[in-house]
Amino acid sequence: MANRFAIAPLTTDSSHDDGTATEYELEFVRRRAASGFGAAISSAAYVEQNGRSWQGIGATHDGQLSSLHRLAESMRAAGGLAILQIYDGGRIAKPELIGEQCLRAPSAVASLRPGAKTPRAMTGNEVGNLIASFREAASRARKAGFDGVEVHGANHYAVHQFFSPRANHRADHWGGTLLKRMNFPLAVAQAVRDALGPKLIVGFRITPFESEPDGYTLEDAKLLCNELGKLNLDYISVSLDDYRMSRPVGETRVYDSPVENKYTPAENPITEFARVIAGRSAVMASGGIKTCIDAEGAIKMGADLVAVGRAVVVDPEWLSKVRSKSEASILAGLPKDELEIAKALSIPPRMVEYLLSRPGWIPRL
Ligand SMILES: Cc1cc2nc3c(=O)[nH]c(=O)nc-3n(C[C@H](O)[C@H](O)[C@H](O)COP(=O)(O)O)c2cc1C
Repeated sequence: MANRFAIAPLTTDSSHDDGTATEYELEFVRRRAASGFGAAISSAAYVEQNGRSWQGIGATHDGQLSSLHRLAESMRAAGGLAILQIYDGGRIAKPELIGEQCLRAPSAVASLRPGAKTPRAMTGNEVGNLIASFREAASRARKAGFDGVEVHGANHYAVHQFFSPRANHRADHWGGTLLKRMNFPLAVAQAVRDALGPKLIVGFRITPFESEPDGYTLEDAKLLCNELGKLNLDYISVSLDDYRMSRPVGETRVYDSPVENKYTPAENPITEFARVIAGRSAVMASGGIKTCIDAEGAIKMGADLVAVGRAVVVDPEWLSKVRSKSEASILAGLPKDELEIAKALSIPPRMVEYLLSRPGWIPRL
């Protein structure tokens, strides 16, 4: 990487029905990448139709290859690395997109999201097929010219669900004990490495602890991190809403009144993961990085790389301003006028709706 800054994965909710990228989202990415990020990580691409959680890009069949290729090229607008993030929604796939009867997850346990439907527990065969789908999606990323793939193991999607004692009540190879709950995340990471070979980049994004009742702890996640460290991964990305406050994204997605934190570890997860990984992979921090001082703060805590999300949504030229030491001119929030947002900031109109639908999620001027 030319520098330590990455564009965090940012779903635009704006793809075509067939999972190909729209011009809107290519422009969203191109404009932001043009300011010279060392890498850009794509919005999460679904690996199975029944795992779609929003109107995003897919990597399920070769018909999507040329769209994926165009996406990779847009992400390389200034020569940075292009990394495809891949995911499955599991119990938080969107019933309106896939049909309620198609909702499947590690176990038949509904998420804490308001109005969540109860999924059906996947059979052992389906679990094996889902791992194969991750592998095939990674192969498509390679064919489409990406520099690497990030497994979305965070933020309550399927890989996270398999690791969570709240979501995974299985009694087979994929659940029952902490060690068995690691099997799915590890199998997916290994499958992606196998598909990409030793040279391309493989990253794994992890939620470092669950603050919901009976969730996994930072100690549990450190054990998983140690196992991931044996798989020759290039980086582990730690997903927090604020890297200093040690708070992960809550499952409810209610941003103005989050579920009361039941568990907060004493240690900062970035520091702890860096200690466990001990140089075997790079550690990427994210959450609340809005200035160069924030980025340096995350690096002091042990991160090698920083991913920037909302700050580049709000200001597409964020990194150029940081680099030219004109931080005072960084836009601090989305303009009041909603019509202005899409045009002036190259944000797809559907993404504008999505951003504004969650009060408290993104700052407004
Ligand atoms: C609009 C939006 C879409 C996001 N989509 C994804 C995604 O596809 N995959 C993912 O891992 N995280 C996603 N995130 C989380 C961000 O990558 C990031 O971790 C989070 O916003 C915290 O970092 P920040 O404070 O720099 O925004 C999304 C965040 C936002 C605001």
